[in-house]
Amino acid sequence: MRSLLVIVLAAGEGTRMLSSRPKVLHAVAGKPMVSHVLDAALAAGAARVAVVIGPDHDAVAAEVRRAAPEAAVFVQAERRGTAHAVLAAREVLAEGFDDVVVMYGDTPLVRPETVNALRAPLADGAAVAVLGFRPENPFGYGRLVTRDGELVAIREEKDASTEERAIGLCNAGLMAFDGRAVLRILDSISDANSKKEFYLTDAVEIARAEGRSAGVIEAASEEVAGVNSRVQLAEAEAIFQARLRLGALEGGATLVAPETVFFSADTRLGRDVIVEPNVVFGPGVTVEDGATIRAFSHVEGAHVGKGAIVGPFARLRPGAELGQGVHVGNFVEIKASDLAPGVKVNHLSYVGDSSVGANTNIGAGTITCNYDGFRKHRTTIGANAFIGTNTLLVAPVAVGDGAYIGTGSVITENVPDEALAIARARQVNKPGWAARLRERLSAGLAPKK
Ligand code: UD1
Ligand code: MG
Repeated sequence: MRSLLVIVLAAGEGTRMLSSRPKVLHAVAGKPMVSHVLDAALAAGAARVAVVIGPDHDAVAAEVRRAAPEAAVFVQAERRGTAHAVLAAREVLAEGFDDVVVMYGDTPLVRPETVNALRAPLADGAAVAVLGFRPENPFGYGRLVTRDGELVAIREEKDASTEERAIGLCNAGLMAFDGRAVLRILDSISDANSKKEFYLTDAVEIARAEGRSAGVIEAASEEVAGVNSRVQLAEAEAIFQARLRLGALEGGATLVAPETVFFSADTRLGRDVIVEPNVVFGPGVTVEDGATIRAFSHVEGAHVGKGAIVGPFARLRPGAELGQGVHVGNFVEIKASDLAPGVKVNHLSYVGDSSVGANTNIGAGTITCNYDGFRKHRTTIGANAFIGTNTLLVAPVAVGDGAYIGTGSVITENVPDEALAIARARQVNKPGWAARLRERLSAGLAPKK
């Protein structure tokens, strides 16, 4: 097996994003673009990953550490071209790898298979391989100049002749290098061009001059779409969502209206999961086999057990753990709570910072009052309990196994197992009172005090 080093160029400022955030931290399917690229590099089997960031991009370095803790981070102090950026990682290049692949941090849709396909020409003796594509409008891209079917040069837009500008096959940006030749080639690149930049793309002509060949692998333009603006970010999102929907369907989930369901890159759905229309999955969701997510639900950071039913119009927030067969109905919000198997919270409730035992029924309009303005407090409810409609559970508080809470209660003290707790004012009936009131009012008199 040939060893692989991937260098991710992420020094771009992304001025066209009009953002205070570095471009590569903008998210596609809830995951920063640079992390998509890092994940593809690792999935392709990279033994080592290096990321080149711009000065003052501490936030990018932090995201790289989170997504790929082993990756080396280098700062390119001055933007002097793509070859100059790769050389910022000279230290890792010198470690010696069979293959070196350069990827861009703002090109989040590249698949690991494509990274490896690009390495194939190297195994066949090429010194360089380039990922080509045919954009609808080639303006601005480097053109792949071929002679007798062989790649002889990459010409940047600004340096291209009229004939070269007519070439439809363009450089997507991904390039692979023979690890034994890469430093020598990069050190031979000059900035003698119209942009006064060190172009990575000059590697093709340099390799040819050394008597080595350069290969081309073609990719679909969908896969190599780069993001320079919010419009392109939205386009990348749409392409990626289509991929995730397809993945969910191919994995055995039913999506009734796939185009209305939005996934995160890490959403996991089991088999026979049914997702009704207009559901949004934020990061960190796993849905086990046979569960149903009904229409208009918003689910993030949650685990939904086998056969559970969520929604319609439910909100699961981070830390929601739903056991097997749990029902969470309309206008119910669950946060940082464990619901044991068989629990039902069917209507209009908020359950936060709680644990609820098996088969407990939580009546409509129940609220866990978990926040005192300073801290969050926990509510513990046992198994087989029955929480009456419109109960307020003022945390910290515990309700025992099998206990009943009377409708409309405000529970501030613990309730023992099997007890009934009622915490509301007693009802008073005053016979004939309403008729007397109407008489006085119709006679023009004030109501009695
Ligand atoms: C580059 C390619 C071009 C290709 C196009 C695909 C070169 C010379 N040209 O052109 O052939 O068709 O990408 O999108 O490589 N970067 C740095 N430091 C630098 C310069 C660039 O980190 O000093 C990074 C950028 O952040 C970006 C990538 O390298 O991620 C490409 O740079 P960019 O300036 O966008 O190159 P293009 O002119 O688009
Ligand atoms: Mg570019």
